[in-house]
Amino acid sequence: MLNGKRILLIVAGGIAAFKCHDLIRRLRGQGAHVRCVLTEAGARFVTPLSLQALSEDKVYTDMFSLTDESEMGHIELSREADLLVVAPATANILARMAAGMADDLAATVLLATDKPVLAAPAMNVRMWTHAATVANVETLKKRGVTFVGPNDGAMACNEYGPGRMSEPAEIVAAIESMLGASATGPLAGQSLAGRRALVTSGPTREAIDPVRYISNHSSGKQGHAIASALAKLGAEVTLVSGPVAVPDPMGVKVVKIDSADQMLAACQAAGQLDVAIFAAAVADWKAASPAGAKIKKQAGAPPPALELTPNPDILATVSRPGPQRPALVVGFAAETENLVANAVDKRKRKGCDWIVANDVSPATGTFGGERNTVHLVTAEGVEAWPTLSKDEVAGRLADRIAAQLGRPRSVKAAE
Ligand code: C5P
Repeated sequence: MLNGKRILLIVAGGIAAFKCHDLIRRLRGQGAHVRCVLTEAGARFVTPLSLQALSEDKVYTDMFSLTDESEMGHIELSREADLLVVAPATANILARMAAGMADDLAATVLLATDKPVLAAPAMNVRMWTHAATVANVETLKKRGVTFVGPNDGAMACNEYGPGRMSEPAEIVAAIESMLGASATGPLAGQSLAGRRALVTSGPTREAIDPVRYISNHSSGKQGHAIASALAKLGAEVTLVSGPVAVPDPMGVKVVKIDSADQMLAACQAAGQLDVAIFAAAVADWKAASPAGAKIKKQAGAPPPALELTPNPDILATVSRPGPQRPALVVGFAAETENLVANAVDKRKRKGCDWIVANDVSPATGTFGGERNTVHLVTAEGVEAWPTLSKDEVAGRLADRIAAQLGRPRSVKAAE
């Protein structure tokens, strides 16, 4: 699948560097040429000799080596590759890449290259979630660097969370997809690099007076997971979120709102988009005239009548045909009965391309729960997905979106 492709593998200093041995073996097994650059810190974890033995090529470590420069200048090293892979991409090398440093051979070849770059981050969970790393990753994504992982899991430092380097098989799948040689099916490993995505998530709050509101049980877990999955595929994501308790996803621009009107305004301010996914549970109605002061209880008086008025339909508004319409608009249908029939009808009524239909009857535990059973309704038909975690639903949906946006224009859903 990767026959004749030239991969420049930059191995930085993290415990995950040991996985590079397997990565090199797998890449070579697919016919790729692998040439390694090892940082000084990387050489504390793996030796030049082991990388050289597995790659059957010289390993480059020193920027000022006269011999290396006479055989293969460092600029040439970065240019003769089809793809540069940084694995493990430590917090340190990501920071140096974001800052445009050229303080060792690895940073210099990354600065000098005009070839696609894939980074497989690996670091302590606190380092990964630190604002500095978040900002560096965002900067690098904007410049077109593709990221694979990191995965959640137990870490060498006895902590648990995101920060584990992707497994070699996942990195190979990402490389295949970047080089247009996907071996694992049409949906696996597609990239959303360069795509702009909008996701709405969570409930809205509609004020009755300054202390009371109308809302619903949406937790934001599914919408946030979708935003995260799209970002992991390289999309530039804006997440417009109602009040939720779940943390902001990594590498995503989060706009926090309360009401449906504010959500609509934030969506319209998101600019030109390739895809918009409306996973928020927007309140259908708001108070017709919210009180400016707390409505007081009055002894003996009947309870106040609450007059409601419809909220703007954000999904239907964004789905309207026009130059601003995203190429792909995905709505959600939360139903307690006639799920599929209602979703098929909703897709047409709202003017969106796909509907993700989920059963939210109390017995399913979908609201606030960890798992979701959905149907994907498209113009082509209805697909029943198995019960999956919300992260898995998000991952599958992101893969489908990447595959859809990657198709030739004539078969895009919106057309
Ligand atoms: O009409 P209903 O609320 O069932 O439609 C659900 C879908 O529409 C969801 O994707 C939801 O995010 C979106 N929606 C919206 N604005 C509304 C109501 C629903 O974007 N006011």
